[in-house]
Amino acid sequence: MPASLKPMLSFESHFGRSATIQITSPGRINLIGEHIDYLGGKVMPIAIENHLTILAGRLTERVVEIFPEGLGFGSPVRIDLDHLEKRTDPAESWMNYVIGVLAVYEASGIVLPGFCAQIDSNLPTGAGLSSSAALETGIALAIEAFSGVEQDSIDRALLCQRAEHEFAGVPCGIMDQIAVGAGREGHALLLDCSNLSIHHVSMPADLAVVTADTGVKHALGDGEYRKRREDCDEILKRLGLSSFHELSSEILEASASKLDEKLFRRARHAVTEMQRVDLFATALESSDQEALGQLMKASHESLRVDYEVSCQELDFLVETAYALPAASGVIGSRMTGGGFGGSTVTLVQCEKANSLIESLKKSYEEKFGRSLNCFITSAVEGAKTSIV
Ligand code: GLA
Repeated sequence: MPASLKPMLSFESHFGRSATIQITSPGRINLIGEHIDYLGGKVMPIAIENHLTILAGRLTERVVEIFPEGLGFGSPVRIDLDHLEKRTDPAESWMNYVIGVLAVYEASGIVLPGFCAQIDSNLPTGAGLSSSAALETGIALAIEAFSGVEQDSIDRALLCQRAEHEFAGVPCGIMDQIAVGAGREGHALLLDCSNLSIHHVSMPADLAVVTADTGVKHALGDGEYRKRREDCDEILKRLGLSSFHELSSEILEASASKLDEKLFRRARHAVTEMQRVDLFATALESSDQEALGQLMKASHESLRVDYEVSCQELDFLVETAYALPAASGVIGSRMTGGGFGGSTVTLVQCEKANSLIESLKKSYEEKFGRSLNCFITSAVEGAKTSIV
């Protein structure tokens, strides 16, 4: 279970008024379908219990005041709604997720309301668990609550994605924002990123989802994520295709001479990962644990070798999980999210989850000399607003 949130007793002392709404905005883990959302592939995320909580109250002035204590930043910030400019100071870079959402909502024609907000969180940042999308979505919900203009979860996700592209400089796909906004309790979302349709797949009741955060901070804005997207654009250009949906394993083999070795591997990841998602959805629906395990293993290998977005800590955790004896109840394990650090997701028989966590923590601490943040989570509802 995620660490419980500290009670937020201080909203009134910070802002001299009472909060009127509370927003809960969860993180996400992706079960499979990695680095293919931006290629129009299918992905399979769940929204998770770890979340941001935003308490907020309306202000009549054209400002947004934020007390971001729970994000690990102590000082309150004040954003002038008449000057929504991107912050360039690295210490303020988190604010671009807020300013970006405010700016894209304004550009979409909404008259921005002033509000004050206190943010608390038990969702680790930079852990591949979509803390950025959770923040964007939480701010979007605050704007909607105070402006009275409600978006559906897909339109909201698209606005948040745009904010991330334009203000945070991360050319992300749409998976995270949709998972955070449209998660369903007890279900994975089989999200088709070519048309944004969602099919809910029930999570087998006997399986637990274990997340292991390596503590290696990933920063998708640092260039490697963008380079993968550029590699994929280059592949389509060289093969004369308009989409990866036109690329099969056979066509890829036959066209290998048009790609260099690196681009061939990138394309092979995209093609095989797209195949794995459909197989995984079928295996989840029929509780075919052996197939789930093989598909997660193949996905991790493809991300490690062909797409080169893993790191030694993620590889170690996945290898350790698969090396445990059958009695440990491990079904499958892989890195989750953008990679270059972040977390793994492991499916395990429910009654064995706690001993798996102990094993992973012990092995990780012995190997790397630092502790592992490892916990059971489950699929929850997407972000929501309630009146307080
Ligand atoms: C990050 C991005 C997503 C997706 C994943 C990789 O989380 O925000 O859009 O591309 O990486 O699957």
